[in-house]
Amino acid sequence: MKYLINGGNKLFGRLEVDSAKNAILPIIASTIMCDEECVIKEIPMYLDVIEMSAILEKLGKKVEFRDGNLIISGSLNSTSVIMAETKTLRSSIFMLGPILAKYRKAIFTSPGGCDIGKRPIDIHIAGLKSLGVKFTYANDLIYADASKMQVGEVELSFPSVGATENIMMASVLNDGEITVIRNCAREPEIVDLAKFINSMGGKIFGAGYETIVIYGVKKLHGTSFRCIGDRILAGTYLIAAAMCGGRIELEGIDPNFLLPLIVFLRNSGCNIDLFSDKITLENFSKLKSIGKIETSTFPGFPTDLQSLILVMQTISKGTSIIHETVFEARFKVVAELAKMGAKISVSERYATIIGVNKLKPSNVVCPDLRGGAALVLAGLVAKGTTEVDEIFHIERGYYNFDKNLRSLGANIEKVE
Ligand code: UD1
Repeated sequence: MKYLINGGNKLFGRLEVDSAKNAILPIIASTIMCDEECVIKEIPMYLDVIEMSAILEKLGKKVEFRDGNLIISGSLNSTSVIMAETKTLRSSIFMLGPILAKYRKAIFTSPGGCDIGKRPIDIHIAGLKSLGVKFTYANDLIYADASKMQVGEVELSFPSVGATENIMMASVLNDGEITVIRNCAREPEIVDLAKFINSMGGKIFGAGYETIVIYGVKKLHGTSFRCIGDRILAGTYLIAAAMCGGRIELEGIDPNFLLPLIVFLRNSGCNIDLFSDKITLENFSKLKSIGKIETSTFPGFPTDLQSLILVMQTISKGTSIIHETVFEARFKVVAELAKMGAKISVSERYATIIGVNKLKPSNVVCPDLRGGAALVLAGLVAKGTTEVDEIFHIERGYYNFDKNLRSLGANIEKVE
């Protein structure tokens, strides 16, 4: 499938922001710890969510998409997470913590995911080892044994999102015991995961701060929950409106999740108003370059918006520098943007962008999830027809992307 885009339209209108993919995925994994029915409400059909649900189903859980909700119940009949899907979905590693918490043993293949760098799992493993989990390796498989899991203190060497979530989940069912995790990632999706687990009867304190404390409980019960709005989706639409010009209103998003982006968009010349659960953006003038920007962990500038801010700089007046500090290979979209007339040079983890007056339409191919979305934004401003191919990358984390953009006035079609 591909998108055909006829660029040049301004964007006007209102959108409801879907639930956050990066909250839903670990939350799906955490349902492994509970046999009763868990309802995750208003689920967008991101491909990653469909794939994660399919893995869970293959492991024995009952998984159902009904009336827009995801309903999960039952127990696992296998703790071997070694099917083909785990090669492409890195988030399958989130199942390690919950499986060890409930079943005390697991077999895993090394997880896959977006091709944006090495993405090892050494921090997950080191953290679990300090809780007494034993690991052995054979034939590309990782064997984990948590039969002697003990409580303790875990100090993460880097605030990895996935490692924080995995170690937090592994500690939830250590009945009556206290686990402390230090140097945790503080992303809002981790807070949402903790809220979900606590709504099942878990006792997690401090999510969103550097130290998380988990009081182990014996058992979890069923729950019903709606995840937070997706800050990366919201950021994508804000950047799209900034680039195309127009006025949009996004509902269902807490502006506190996006403060660094809001600062950059305001400095670029956009008018932005913030409400408790809503953001409006208006822009009718040429964007100014942002100068220098560095990605980092929350509350810094999110790496997941780096490709989107990069494409925005290609048509902003002046020169800007983006320093990618989180992933080592997240500039793959640059080669595709060059086909559209963008002036970007990359040296290691730095990209220097010289703003041009306009981008030209071209045929481009998505390199990864966010890079793919960046190409769509480039297509929206390039006058003429742009073809964006291999959009399955985009659909991993954007549901109804074309439909939503059309509702704002963009000319975009999904075709075979
Ligand atoms: C999560 C997000 C992803 C986002 C990223 C950083 C989900 C489903 N995905 O990914 O969208 O881009 O956070 O905000 O929530 N690292 C190691 N060893 C480890 C773990 C991580 O070296 O054991 C490195 C990674 O290679 C990467 C950096 O740490 O360079 C950040 O990774 P991490 O925070 O773990 O990201 P993910 O949880 O994979």
